[in-house]
Amino acid sequence: MRIGQDDDSLSAGERGPTLLEDFHAREKITHFDHERIPERVVHARGAGAYGYFEPYDDSLREYTCAEFLTDPSTRTPVFVRFSTVAGSRGSADTVRDVRGFATKFYTRQGNYDLVGNNMPVFFIHDGIKFPDFVHAVKPEPHNEIPQAQSAHDTLWDFVGLQPETLHMMMWLMSDRALPRSYRMMQGFGVHTFRLVNAAGRGTFVKFHWKPVLGTHSLVWDETQKIAGKDPDFNRRDLWDAIEAGQYPEWELGVQLIPESDEFAFDFDLLDATKIVPEERVPVRPVGRLVLDRNPENFFAETEQVAFHTANIVPGIDFTNDPLLQARNFSYLDTQLIRLGGPNFSQLPVNRPVAPVHHNQRDGYHQSTINTGKTSYTKNALSGGCPVADGAFPEVFEHYQEKVEGAKIRRRAESFKDYYSQATLFWNSMSDVEREHMVSAFRFELGKCVDMGVRARVVEQLNHVDHELATRVAPGVGVPAPAEEVRPNHGASSPALSQLNAPTATI
Ligand code: HEM
Repeated sequence: MRIGQDDDSLSAGERGPTLLEDFHAREKITHFDHERIPERVVHARGAGAYGYFEPYDDSLREYTCAEFLTDPSTRTPVFVRFSTVAGSRGSADTVRDVRGFATKFYTRQGNYDLVGNNMPVFFIHDGIKFPDFVHAVKPEPHNEIPQAQSAHDTLWDFVGLQPETLHMMMWLMSDRALPRSYRMMQGFGVHTFRLVNAAGRGTFVKFHWKPVLGTHSLVWDETQKIAGKDPDFNRRDLWDAIEAGQYPEWELGVQLIPESDEFAFDFDLLDATKIVPEERVPVRPVGRLVLDRNPENFFAETEQVAFHTANIVPGIDFTNDPLLQARNFSYLDTQLIRLGGPNFSQLPVNRPVAPVHHNQRDGYHQSTINTGKTSYTKNALSGGCPVADGAFPEVFEHYQEKVEGAKIRRRAESFKDYYSQATLFWNSMSDVEREHMVSAFRFELGKCVDMGVRARVVEQLNHVDHELATRVAPGVGVPAPAEEVRPNHGASSPALSQLNAPTATI
């Protein structure tokens, strides 16, 4: 029923109490009362945009049957969401943090999500540690201080006790953690994934996004001032550029590693704390991503988009990377609560352009009207005869990897070189970049109240590089380590020193 105006509620007399029967007032307020949904447990603050991806040619066909990567006549629509990791939805953009770079490709073969970051490695090996890591990184539980991710006891306590974090911590203390613009940020799939061709042959792959504008950072002092003056700095920059027709663009590159080379490296390809140096495996450019349209509604699109590492298409598959395996559980699980039940794939921003055929029915927020009386397979009623195996034109077969071994709760020895690539990263940097890193360690670690935590981290840095540790130590009030210690460098196989400088130049 229409009402003339909804500025005033229905009352008993001009100055009397509001009547319970005023369902207009009750509905309006009730809807408002329910406007909030939980923010993401991590990557809560983000900004998104639509665009497209197109491959340069069909040269990847030898490696993958994913059409969107191999058919140059296909322009695949995408939605990309950039994010910070630790801050809440309303936190500032320019904090020292990792940035998310998540891409949903609405391919004709189904949605493919490449859920990556702007750094090529991660803090931990195994997803079972992710809740611990995130609890250490987020504001401390008793008083929800500090908002800044990197300057507190719990994070550095975790780092000092978990040396696998060190390589990523070097990236986090570098200028890469202060991107000037989302348009000037690299992206990485991080894990080793697998491409699979039409014959079922697998090839290991690392995904890279390279911004056409180049990779640029702010300096620390700028980030602090901007966070005060314009907490929406990166979000606004992306929005304004697209509104002005300055469409940001990235090149997709792949590092391809034949399965025969699975053990050719002195680190484990399944270890997400390692890069594959580009000197060993060059990045091959395969296509371009352009973002050319801002969302209409932040909540409906950017907030409700649901990325999931397990959203794959024929031609792309997983590896046994234990971090990836956990992610393949976690994203759907968290979205079931964040987006209120099992039907969020029907939301416009999540809906595939590919036709969907399944027998999932009902549940909260079901908006598809499924017709007919059958919702099970096999059935002989809907089409006249049972659906035969192989009846669909494109049957997704998982890569046929052979797996054997006893059940074991212990990380492989091949994951246990924590320091070599952290050292490689330090060695790759210019004097100015080193100076910035030393200042960052001093500033962030120097905020720790617990001196034992500070000392333990400096001890760990001494495994990475003696000069780094001796430069950080006086800034955080602990004694400089007397001598270089480098155990566990290249523990598992030939030394990384055989490699040239790493990819990771800033
Ligand atoms: C969210 C990247 C590891 C759990 C995200 C997002 C990105 C991302 C980009 C934001 C997606 C968006 O914009 O909506 C990564 C990368 C990882 C990693 C690159 C390591 C290589 C993990 C692990 C877990 C995890 C190990 C859990 C075991 C989550 C959860 C969310 C999230 C629960 C929130 C998702 C949502 O509410 O929609 N991650 N992540 N992530 N990640 Fe990760």
